[in-house]
Amino acid sequence: MSITRSFKASDMFKFNNINLDIWTETYGIGFYLNYLSRWPDICCVQEAPSGRMMGYVLGKAEGQGPEWHGHVTAITVAHEYRRLGLARKMMNFLELVSDEIYKGFFVDLYVRCANKIAIDMYEGMGYSVYRRVREYYGSLGVGKGGRDEEDAFDMRKPLSRDPNRRSIRSNGRDMIMATKSRSDPSTVCFTLHAAAMHVQLRLILQLEHDLSPMPPLPPLHTCRPPFPILHSLEHHTSPQRPHAG
Ligand SMILES: CC(C)(COP(=O)(O)OP(=O)(O)OC[C@H]1O[C@@H](n2cnc3c(N)ncnc32)[C@H](O)[C@@H]1OP(=O)(O)O)[C@@H](O)C(=O)NCCC(=O)NCCS
Repeated sequence: MSITRSFKASDMFKFNNINLDIWTETYGIGFYLNYLSRWPDICCVQEAPSGRMMGYVLGKAEGQGPEWHGHVTAITVAHEYRRLGLARKMMNFLELVSDEIYKGFFVDLYVRCANKIAIDMYEGMGYSVYRRVREYYGSLGVGKGGRDEEDAFDMRKPLSRDPNRRSIRSNGRDMIMATKSRSDPSTVCFTLHAAAMHVQLRLILQLEHDLSPMPPLPPLHTCRPPFPILHSLEHHTSPQRPHAG
């Protein structure tokens, strides 16, 4: 038995049992807060009756015109809760939101070409390879000879807005493209300045526990750039609730 609920900022204090896994990426705090503030309706957690986190999915909606789509940024389930249908449940959730709320044409995701279990799972759920992206993962220089890059499959599944299945192709595994850039600010793990980290943690606590108002934030110029997340976080302190998209 598990419940599906929204991913909360304080879940970052509880997901070590899930993230300590070679196939699961761990990002900086700002990365998660960016998702929770911009796409709160597409990021969810599976929780056990004990309150222990079992797994989560992070997603977003992006693109323009016929490329408008839902994207699976991360999906992972703790070892002890695998093969219970949790990933299937979370993928169904993300697809439903992408289809009915965001009206996307398709859902896509990136997966390491070596992650056979995940690739088989996605194919079983109706995804197919759209293209192979060279050296999408890695570049930390920690592998043999300083090389640790790995290719990714970009996989897609058409939604109801694409009845003619124009968003997919049958020969995707043969379509190989170079990585444009790994410096998409939403996927970069920033090293946070201590002051900015402090502000972010205070905001987490305030959001979670509805504490009394915080002292004013330090001016942004006192923090070292880049801190795009601070701009989006400031919206949380306004009386209006942030809206998705
Ligand atoms: C991939 C992952 C998310 C699957 O989570 P899960 O909750 O165990 O998956 P489900 O129980 O919902 O399984 C759905 C289907 O996927 C397939 N599948 C999942 N795990 C499998 C495994 N170990 N071996 C074979 N098939 C598997 C099965 O077809 C399964 O359906 P079935 O149980 O009815 O046969 C999980 O193994 C995981 O967290 N892996 C590490 C992180 C990761 O690789 N994420 C994907 C990155 S893109």
